[in-house]
Amino acid sequence: MSDSKPLTGSVKGRAPAWPYPRVVAHRGGGTLAPENTLAGIRLGAQLGMKMVEFDAKLSADDVVFLLHDDTVDRTSNGQGAAARMDYASIARLDAGSWFDAGFEREIMPTLDQVASACLELGVAANIEIKPSPGRETLTGRVVAQQAASLWQRGEPAPLLSSFSCQALAAARDAAPALPRGLLFGALPPDWREQTESLDCVSLHVDHRALDEARVAGIKAAGLRILVYTVNELERARQLAAWGVDSICTDRIDEITVDRLAGA
Ligand code: G3P
Ligand code: MG
Repeated sequence: MSDSKPLTGSVKGRAPAWPYPRVVAHRGGGTLAPENTLAGIRLGAQLGMKMVEFDAKLSADDVVFLLHDDTVDRTSNGQGAAARMDYASIARLDAGSWFDAGFEREIMPTLDQVASACLELGVAANIEIKPSPGRETLTGRVVAQQAASLWQRGEPAPLLSSFSCQALAAARDAAPALPRGLLFGALPPDWREQTESLDCVSLHVDHRALDEARVAGIKAAGLRILVYTVNELERARQLAAWGVDSICTDRIDEITVDRLAGA
């Protein structure tokens, strides 16, 4: 990231900068690889993906690493709450075999390892801050601090997002220059106030919560829009035509920037 102007906030009536591609790989490699692994990110890059979304949280000893759930049970051969395990014990777990035996060497990587891979591959990052319950502020702060430092010389800046306002507020305070997006499932009535109070560049939402009028309303408020998780090409094309800026998908083999454009 350069020392240039922060990407945060929007000038009234003008959309904030959005140096991100139209398609984003969900949880690393979508459904083609075990989620939140380096193998997934590499596979996406091989398929031409230019941006990846992944979930980041803290181990008990405050190492930032990739994991979606509060526990390691579903996506590894271990058991237990991530917030109660040191990263050394998390790193010993097999985070690939649950998906396919061919991925048995995959681990839950640190943010440090993921940043190196993204920068080497030329893949932009959407870091979803996914705090374990009760660790929202600390997670937001540490993830943002590390992201700012790891991407110091990388372009574009990593886009931070979270369902947790508390985590995103801590991220804003720790690294105000990093762009932020607030995540929603359903769209609450006060989405304007919430995104404004966190000085967000974008609103991230389940695509099923949107129709054309809602997309127009969010854009008119000066926000970019990232939707998840869109796995059908026709729906992706419709959302793009409405003005959605980026589409997060599991189907990185099917939904590509070229196909979205109808090429
Ligand atoms: O950031 C978009 C999407 O990843 C949010 O849902 O549950 O897959 O993390 P989830
Ligand atoms: Mg996520």
